[in-house]
Amino acid sequence: MANKLRAGVIGSGGISRNHVSGYIKSERNDVVALADINDRAKDDMDARFGLKTKHYTDARKMMEEANLDVVSICTWHTGHATWTIAAAAYKPKGIICEKPMADTLGRAEQMIIACRRNGVKLVIGHQRRFLPAYTLAKDLIAQGAIGQVQHITSYGWQGMPNYSSHQTDMYRYLLSDEECEWVMGNIERKTDQYERGTRIEDCAIGAFRFRNGANALLLSDVTDIVYQGALIYGSEGLINMTTEQLQLLNKDTGGRWELHVPDGKFFTVAEKGDRFEWEEGGAGQADELADWIEGKVDTHRGRGENGYKALEMIHAVYESARMHEKVIMPMRTKVNPLEIMVESGHLVPERPGRYDIRAFLLRGERMTNDDAPAREE
Ligand SMILES: NC(=O)c1ccc[n+]([C@@H]2O[C@H](COP(=O)([O-])OP(=O)(O)OC[C@H]3O[C@@H](n4cnc5c(N)ncnc54)[C@H](O)[C@@H]3O)[C@@H](O)[C@H]2O)c1
Repeated sequence: MANKLRAGVIGSGGISRNHVSGYIKSERNDVVALADINDRAKDDMDARFGLKTKHYTDARKMMEEANLDVVSICTWHTGHATWTIAAAAYKPKGIICEKPMADTLGRAEQMIIACRRNGVKLVIGHQRRFLPAYTLAKDLIAQGAIGQVQHITSYGWQGMPNYSSHQTDMYRYLLSDEECEWVMGNIERKTDQYERGTRIEDCAIGAFRFRNGANALLLSDVTDIVYQGALIYGSEGLINMTTEQLQLLNKDTGGRWELHVPDGKFFTVAEKGDRFEWEEGGAGQADELADWIEGKVDTHRGRGENGYKALEMIHAVYESARMHEKVIMPMRTKVNPLEIMVESGHLVPERPGRYDIRAFLLRGERMTNDDAPAREE
């Protein structure tokens, strides 16, 4: 008990429950403090997990008083950079910030700088890197089980930054963190649609090329099929992967699909069902951060630099649409190209009227996250 890390949360809503359950399940942290502008959110969390945490409305006050080793940033996207940079100034040992890492690449870069200069280990919540099916696929690919990866197909919806930053992160994880070389894509945006306070497109298609010759295709809001996972085509076989299972087809499986349902470090798929990906992922990322802090591992598979690249690939699709070009990585535009397109009149919504597809998450009379803290530009 004495050696546990003291954890606190900024933004105690939906996904923060995963962080808290991960801290509890991994048994490496005590959750001691919660910050949220909404009191019910903090009360609900304590009731759900039987906790007796200290509550704060002002997250900076929590950082001043609670002597935290680890901080979870679980506000909407526009608050990620502000709160990560603010929390880093208090020098906790580690921060787990939710994805997408930030609303712009420039702000994401500032998060990395702020954490580096304060000696803080930064993790971005692409927790599916801790799913055993994902890791098995990565390992099979690395061992050559399907030959050279030629093509990865995946699907997304509800705007690319939220759902599909997980998919772009997955491409790199599957390819042992191979670098993306270029991105080409297009978007349609006829409405003035937002997702958790962030402008999104109506639909998009992105193509991604990796240094090792692999290609990936993202179809977002253009198909009826949507799932986290991928169909991976190799020169000598196929992998069909979801969050819970993997099917392999190659010469060793006799040309038939061979099913694998690997268990996690903390849970089995059989016991958790469709909660497996959330609970296993949350516990895995908390556990590896504790290992990183304690010097048992050199890095974290969800480290800030990987979160940055996942966001960069999404923004590169917007940049390709804005510049009508194949975008060579790393991307040099550091603001959100979709914002420039709309603000400059390049892409005017033909059916005006701002709405947020996640407004149902807000409480009381709020329709936008206008409580998001002012940006420090
Ligand atoms: N990793 C994943 O798979 C995954 C899944 C769901 C959500 N997310 C991410 O988590 C983030 C939060 O999403 P959510 O669904 O939990 O939203 P939510 O609305 O349920 O929770 C956000 C919480 O932040 C609080 N908040 C807002 N401003 C604040 C401030 N200034 N100080 C303190 N608290 C503040 C709100 O009151 C709310 O309780 C998003 O960025 C989303 O993309 C990630």
